[in-house]
Amino acid sequence: RQLLHTRMRGDQVIVVSNREPYIHEKEGEHVVVKRPASGLVTAVEPVMRACSGTWIAHGSGSGDKLVVDSRDRVRVPPGKEEYTLRRLWLTPEEEQGYYYGFANEGLWPLCHVAHVRPVFRESDWEAYKHVNQRFADAVVAEARSEDPIVLVQDYHFALLPAMIRKRLPRATILTFWHIPWPNPESFGICPWRREILQGMLGSTILGFHTRYHCKNFLETVDRYLEARIEHEHSTISFQQDTTLIEAYPISIEWPTDTMVSRWPSVSACRAKLMERLDLPHDHKVAVGVDRFDYTKGILERLHAVERMLEKYPEWIGRFSFVQVAAPSRSSLEEYKSFQDRIHRVTARINERFGHAGYAPVHLLAQHFGHEAVNELYRAADVCLVTSLHDGMNLVCKEFVAARDDEQGVLILSRFAGAAREMPEALIVNPYHVEELADALLRSITMPPAEQRERMASLRMTVREFNVYRWAGRMLADAGRTRLRERIEARV
Ligand code: F6P
Repeated sequence: RQLLHTRMRGDQVIVVSNREPYIHEKEGEHVVVKRPASGLVTAVEPVMRACSGTWIAHGSGSGDKLVVDSRDRVRVPPGKEEYTLRRLWLTPEEEQGYYYGFANEGLWPLCHVAHVRPVFRESDWEAYKHVNQRFADAVVAEARSEDPIVLVQDYHFALLPAMIRKRLPRATILTFWHIPWPNPESFGICPWRREILQGMLGSTILGFHTRYHCKNFLETVDRYLEARIEHEHSTISFQQDTTLIEAYPISIEWPTDTMVSRWPSVSACRAKLMERLDLPHDHKVAVGVDRFDYTKGILERLHAVERMLEKYPEWIGRFSFVQVAAPSRSSLEEYKSFQDRIHRVTARINERFGHAGYAPVHLLAQHFGHEAVNELYRAADVCLVTSLHDGMNLVCKEFVAARDDEQGVLILSRFAGAAREMPEALIVNPYHVEELADALLRSITMPPAEQRERMASLRMTVREFNVYRWAGRMLADAGRTRLRERIEARV
């Protein structure tokens, strides 16, 4: 963190993301500050605190929940005030077309390949272009020099890099794509595939979580654009710009000793959970913590719980699964019907295997704050991360960071980017119910010594490859490019 702080001194850093790191909402007379459920925010926020600068985002606490004095510029985090949050207010029509429409009904299913058909509407595309342009204008307005470092986050802003490049040709633009990049055939169905690729190639550096996603991107450009690709250096030259395509596996901020010393003990967390669910202390509990999203494999988890209880009935009454599902994009039909289905399947399993005082599945469809989630991780025997496809997934890293007692088992989907870094987890194919049910049984019967061995190794990995390393590597690559450009300008 210190290194990052030192490295960035003198350079202006501007972050652009759709989701804002803090939501100011009015509750009666008071303004409360909330943190959204977002992997992106979890990762980028600590980096921003180290770098200072300006974070431009869509003001999601707008509308009837109106924010602090309607201000579009606030210093955050509250009480510490380490950087500026600059909000852009979108109209309901802009939000509908750009965010719900093109980003989440088009690009989200297109890139995740989770068997949900992407929807491409001309009007959404127009809104997406228009909102990207608004954010480009905001970046230009915030820039204090000709060459700021701009960190563009995610699939909401595929067109932004080229738009910024046009107005600030000397800016260093680091774009990070937080979700998977599919193969050229899958991506090719997008009617605006060339425009999207051209927009992204305005970046100085384009980052993905894994080498595999980089390779897919290089092949996609090769298929659809007239560009020069140098595989040896992983660069793409298109028109006047050269972009480095690199893998930067994202991570979390590793908790400091002071933070850990303030956490309630594992046994206190466990006692609290057991009391809340009215369960005996030796009951086995598996948890899942996700946005309520069809890519997360929540249905597959439920099927596996059902299958496990069917196959191994001795666990009926002795095992429960707790799913925290933070409501997300709920106005979209695909999400609504998915969420209804999960409620129905939960009710069916509870009816089939539950009895008075015992429910095998507890579905908590609500937003949990960071502390509550941390306590849940500490209380659980098992954490289930069964994404059907995920760029990285940070829940698995947060679970590991929460377990300083080196106990607890992680079940992790092979289709999450994190599986490459965390082979000590029980790696599963979530589409295979039988395999997932058996992994569940294995996890609740795993001896403490084996849990310790696996957990200690996982903790070492996440502690070392933390979020500062993610940002540090990207910014170091950017630093080298800036230096080279300065030297070339002198010649
Ligand atoms: O990590 C993928 C991601 O889409 C982020 O871009 C986003 O912050 C997070 O999931 C939550 O989604 P949303 O911002 O749409 O609530």
